[in-house]
Amino acid sequence: MSKDTKPSASVYQMMSELSARVGAVNLAQGIPEALNDERIKEAVALFLDTGGQYTPIEGDAELRRAIAADYGPWASPEDVIVTSGCTESLAVALIAARGRFGERLAALEPFYSYYPGLARLAGLSFETVPLRFNSSGFTLDLEAIARVLRAGVRILLLNSPHNPSGWVIGQDAWHELVLMVERHDALIVLDEVYRHFIYAENKSCDLLASTGLHGRCLIANAVSKTFAATGMRLGWLLGPPELLREALIGHMHLSNCQPRPLQRAAARLFAVNEVTWRCAVRDHYRTKRDVLFHGLTERGFRCALPDGGHFILADYRPVRDDLCSQDFALWFTHTAGIASMPIDAFYLGGAPKMVRFSFAVSMAAVEQAAHRLARALV
Ligand SMILES: Cc1ncc(COP(=O)(O)O)c(C=O)c1O
Repeated sequence: MSKDTKPSASVYQMMSELSARVGAVNLAQGIPEALNDERIKEAVALFLDTGGQYTPIEGDAELRRAIAADYGPWASPEDVIVTSGCTESLAVALIAARGRFGERLAALEPFYSYYPGLARLAGLSFETVPLRFNSSGFTLDLEAIARVLRAGVRILLLNSPHNPSGWVIGQDAWHELVLMVERHDALIVLDEVYRHFIYAENKSCDLLASTGLHGRCLIANAVSKTFAATGMRLGWLLGPPELLREALIGHMHLSNCQPRPLQRAAARLFAVNEVTWRCAVRDHYRTKRDVLFHGLTERGFRCALPDGGHFILADYRPVRDDLCSQDFALWFTHTAGIASMPIDAFYLGGAPKMVRFSFAVSMAAVEQAAHRLARALV
């Protein structure tokens, strides 16, 4: 079965079921810790009586204002449409991109496992450029990007902070990309769903504020990770007017509009999740990252400290070299009591010997995993 007809949902499910059956700590799935549930409950309750009718297709005005403000003065509410989660934002971004930039898309490999299916849905071919891994971490292969652009690719699908590696694009690489994309009349679709989870001091989420590219970049994001509200199904797409107009037509025919109580609640979450709260959440995640990273490297896994996101990619060869990724994940769940995600779902083929561990779970779960890593007889 091809990668786009069989998404990785079944692998997540298989690993989670196995994890529950053997009593493992489940670091396979990426569902974020419910840090915000009380705030979400309060916010939704405030707006329950705002009605059950259709809402504006482009999104509730207050929410669009709140989203634009989150990006800074360069963004205006007219640059934003509200969607059903980052998944729909990406779908309508790619549909809009196809009309203007043609049928060839390239994404970074490894990639979020829904990308090939989303490209197919939009009628795009799916090509990849590698994120390279070495002892100092993951780096963008700018020469490989230049090559695919020279060969006719006009849509680059980037994800920063990156799932599964935790790589975050730096200002210099972004600057180079801006020049390349302008030179080749191409577009960047930027999946920033982990935007507020950047731990490295020298990396920033304000790429467009500092280096421009407003006319050639569509940004997809959501409340899913921003507020640990994956089931609220609210996302947004930010971009230039002519592309947003096309995206809006796609959105109108897909989910059409989102429930008003949830949109108003999300606008309120932006207001109450002021900078101090955001920083506290980010620092909490940074600590969980450090605890898991220490546990994995002490056990012998080879990993790069992620600059952002919710995951650590670990090269398991020093622990056990003879298994493919899926077999290692199964074996390690049984042997160490820690479930991880096989990396195959994030590659078109030829996946390296790595598995993905999530630190989005609670601190207690991360500490338990670290404890098990220290004791594991592997
Ligand atoms: C990189 C990336 N993009 C998009 C999504 C989907 O986000 P949403 O749940 O808002 O559709 C995820 C979810 O894990 C993700 O990791």
